[in-house]
Amino acid sequence: MKKQDFKSKVISNIKVADNFFRMELESKGVEFSAGEFFQVSVPTHTLRRPFAPSYSDSEKFAYTYQVVGEGTDKLSTLPVGTEVSVLAPLGNGFTKPTPNSTAILVGGGCGTPSLALLASQLQALKVTTYSVIGARSSCTVLEEGSLNKFSKKVVVTTDDGSSGIKGHSVNGVESILSEARAEGTEINIYACGPAPMLRGLSILAKTEGINAELSFEERMACGFGACMGCVIKINSETAETGFVFKRVCHDGPVFNSTEIYWD
Ligand code: FES
Repeated sequence: MKKQDFKSKVISNIKVADNFFRMELESKGVEFSAGEFFQVSVPTHTLRRPFAPSYSDSEKFAYTYQVVGEGTDKLSTLPVGTEVSVLAPLGNGFTKPTPNSTAILVGGGCGTPSLALLASQLQALKVTTYSVIGARSSCTVLEEGSLNKFSKKVVVTTDDGSSGIKGHSVNGVESILSEARAEGTEINIYACGPAPMLRGLSILAKTEGINAELSFEERMACGFGACMGCVIKINSETAETGFVFKRVCHDGPVFNSTEIYWD
């Protein structure tokens, strides 16, 4: 879908977990493919903020955000009916898998909600979905309900062991891998979360011979490829260094795990 810049009203804006809020906005006909993102204006702030939707239809879309600074704090106070401007859809999104294949969705922290949209879109392709939610503690487990709705199985991992497996998302994937393999179909991993989690998944995917697509959450300033503030290293056979820089906002945010040059 072609990128659009439009005015949108807040439909709802509620707290869903410790320091996490979920906002619904009018979509004015703009629908997202999983992995795409948008930029939303914050009243009294110059730069728009990038987020990935967790739900999308022609009338509204939703996203979950963590209050981490002044901008997101301001967002959390916006009442229903506030008008904001939205630039969407942006980014490349996840590649659609073969129908009837198997998918393992892996979310860490703020990266988890965007996988709820992917899970719903995979259901339409009759993909068997396993989901892993990684969180710090039971108070910050996000979208478990919606992922349960669209997944054959959901595994929760928490750093402190207050819910699910004590450990990280990669441990969660390891715990369901043999069950997912028993489906007997092609398997793909789709992940969104912090870089250390994506790095761990890259290693696991390589060891296990599984295709993995990783959505990066680099901090963005301009959000449209101009400032180079969101670059990551991508393998290059021709560059002397072995890598080139690519912009997460312009060339991603989704990259295949085999493309990433990890330091
Ligand atoms: Fe400016 Fe990506 S945020 S180039």
